[in-house]
Amino acid sequence: MSEHGQFTVALSGGSTPRTLYSLLATRQFAAQVDWPHVYVFWGDERCVPPDHLESNYRMARETLLDHVPIPPFNIHRIPCEQEPEQAALTYERTLSTFFGNVQKEKSPLPCFDLVLLGMGDDGHTASLFPGSAALDEPTRWVAANYVDKIGAWRVTLTPPVLNAAAHVTFLVSGAGKAERLREVLTGPYQPDVLPAQIIRPTRGRLVWLVDAAAVAAQTSA
Ligand code: 6PG
Repeated sequence: MSEHGQFTVALSGGSTPRTLYSLLATRQFAAQVDWPHVYVFWGDERCVPPDHLESNYRMARETLLDHVPIPPFNIHRIPCEQEPEQAALTYERTLSTFFGNVQKEKSPLPCFDLVLLGMGDDGHTASLFPGSAALDEPTRWVAANYVDKIGAWRVTLTPPVLNAAAHVTFLVSGAGKAERLREVLTGPYQPDVLPAQIIRPTRGRLVWLVDAAAVAAQTSA
């Protein structure tokens, strides 16, 4: 806000951030945010309509966005009611329009102030799943990604965009993630197997917010 009068964030989906979003929506925290200058995007989305139970947009809307005074036109969901590839192209245009207008330094990539990420128990992040094509995407900003493991399409920001962010924060909770988290943080670099490892911000700051259960495998090792 102080640097360029606005704050851009790409939200993560899944279940872990529900508590974070609900807490941020409480008066104590919401009152501290200059919502009219906050611009919300998503790091990934399931290929379902925006009112679907599985929608990351719906989850964030229900837990946070419906409860804070953020202008609707500041909210840029991934339009997954479209076919996956079309949704990716549409979102890429959304990013290009928004960041093309605001990044005076004409950075070739959108530079989010914050990208919030989770990590699956298989080491995936956003919708970059092990062995999936989007992991190796060198230039596109948004990719439609078929995930064999779940037999479904996803739309995801790609590693170049995720790594262009000024701040990337992982939020990881629970014993079920502990072993994988240990491998991601201390094991050999193998992003095709552990996609969370591909997150290495080019200039930005990477922070892992983890609970005791999620780091148990490291403290006991
Ligand atoms: C999604 C998320 C995904 C999520 C992990 C962890 O669309 O599901 O973006 O990357 O962060 O799967 O999910 P949980 O928080 O539910 O464990």
